[in-house]
Amino acid sequence: MSKRIDKVLIEQPEVEAFVKRIAADINRDYAGKKVMLICVLKGAFIFLADLVRELEIECEVDFMAVSSYEGEHSTGVVRILKDLDSDISGKHVIIVEDIVDTGLTLDHLTSLLWTRNPASIKVCTAFDKPSRRKIDCTVDYIGRSIPDEFIVGYGLDYNQYFRNIPFVAVLADDAEETDE
Ligand code: IMP
Repeated sequence: MSKRIDKVLIEQPEVEAFVKRIAADINRDYAGKKVMLICVLKGAFIFLADLVRELEIECEVDFMAVSSYEGEHSTGVVRILKDLDSDISGKHVIIVEDIVDTGLTLDHLTSLLWTRNPASIKVCTAFDKPSRRKIDCTVDYIGRSIPDEFIVGYGLDYNQYFRNIPFVAVLADDAEETDE
């Protein structure tokens, strides 16, 4: 089964601009401090890569893989597929997410990471879908809020595809799917 792109929602220059804006905010907020960036795989890998190159503060990077989606639907169950390699106790952690949708993944992750005694935790996401929230969660740095649409590109996938497109797009409706 394959899907096709219906429309471009966010052009590449807008993505580049919000990455620079967030990096400037983080550089200001953590001036003189070291941070531990936790990239939530797989969706945040491109955002993380762009973000770190704009950071002037000292930072470490680690990766965690979680899974909550099948196709376009949240299963509601968050599974840790890959845990961190490093100890975060006493560190200033920034969770780097691709998108916050229902907030369930983030809520689960934040609760888990607090049990490991970091000095602080903040959350940074490329995209936010506030209208879909099922649980209240604080998001400190947001690239761009979007309407309730399933997006792909800039790291975000549909069944593992479309992560590589450098802009953000919405897929065509199921009725317009084509089989290959
Ligand atoms: P949440 O737990 O519902 O907030 O979902 C978070 C995760 O679901 C994100 O990290 C994404 O991996 C995935 N997700 C949510 N909305 C989208 C979307 O529009 N496109 C692609 N993935 C999405």
